[in-house]
Amino acid sequence: MILVVGATGSLGGRITRGLLAQGKPVRILARHNSPSEELAKQGRANTARSLIEAGAEAVYGDLKDRASLTAAVAGVETVVTTATATQRGGDDTVPAVDLHGTLGLIEAARAAGVKRFVYTSTYGAVQGHPVPLFNIKGTCEAALEQSGMEHTILWPAIFMEIWIGMVVGMPLMARQPISLIGKGDHRHNFVSEADVAAFAVAAVDNPRAANQRIGIGGPASYSWTEVVAAVGQAMGAKVPVQYLPPGSPAPLLPDEIGALLNGMETFETFVEMTETAPAYEVKLTTLDDYIRRTFMG
Ligand SMILES: NC(=O)c1ccc[n+]([C@@H]2O[C@H](COP(=O)([O-])OP(=O)(O)OC[C@H]3O[C@@H](n4cnc5c(N)ncnc54)[C@H](OP(=O)(O)O)[C@@H]3O)[C@@H](O)[C@H]2O)c1
Repeated sequence: MILVVGATGSLGGRITRGLLAQGKPVRILARHNSPSEELAKQGRANTARSLIEAGAEAVYGDLKDRASLTAAVAGVETVVTTATATQRGGDDTVPAVDLHGTLGLIEAARAAGVKRFVYTSTYGAVQGHPVPLFNIKGTCEAALEQSGMEHTILWPAIFMEIWIGMVVGMPLMARQPISLIGKGDHRHNFVSEADVAAFAVAAVDNPRAANQRIGIGGPASYSWTEVVAAVGQAMGAKVPVQYLPPGSPAPLLPDEIGALLNGMETFETFVEMTETAPAYEVKLTTLDDYIRRTFMG
């Protein structure tokens, strides 16, 4: 039995459906009164019911409720977690969910004798990182490595669907200029969320993935200026852009997204995928494929 925590989320849902499509037995940790019920109407989440209809069994619980985690991991061989509070709110804070909730889940899984724990971190996460989420992810990675459980750490770069949707798609829909920070010229290795899900599914019971940290990026790195130019080309229209000084908030975007956009102009990412993608039999989505699919027609 594979327990997916975060299954009602965007990436978590793709992983759950991918595992079910392979005929694997999947249990999901679902929440009563989950925000995913509303978010699913906007295509931003999956209802627990839709996953149950696809073949998953559900246990009800919450990462903030340690006892519910003990019940959820009972009889489970593999735990996969993608859960995060970054797109939730209220009591679901990043420290409560991403840090303490994940640490509680690792401990519950270890105590229950779970064989493998697959943790969704983020590329570049490390304990002591100045960005709180990257520090938290690094802290959970360290706890997992010290747990003695066999583990796989997914280390994906920035997701095309989420980020290009917010930074480019949202202003376009609102007929506002796209806001970029600085010169928007630092290159990042945008990866499709669908490809990250494919890696998770391929890694779940793969001996090659045992005790590995798997860097996951797209086929090439692009700057925001290049991304916007590619969208304009696909749409056959000039896309208005305003360049804001470093430190500026990004109009239309939540503060933490604006902060990360600022951060992205202080470093670059490139993940070498020439061996990893064929090893896990994942065909990487190109930026052009994603843009054509999303912004044309
Ligand atoms: N976006 C990027 O560019 C990027 C890059 C690298 C790594 N990542 C990582 O990739 C993952 C993205 O996953 P996603 O797209 O599926 O996230 P998502 O759409 O934001 O969904 C979050 C999931 O976490 C669950 N959750 C939140 N609080 C919870 C709680 N207290 N107890 C139990 N479950 C809780 C949610 O359940 P409810 O539906 O019930 O709220 C939902 O299933 C995250 O770990 C993120 O850090 C993202």
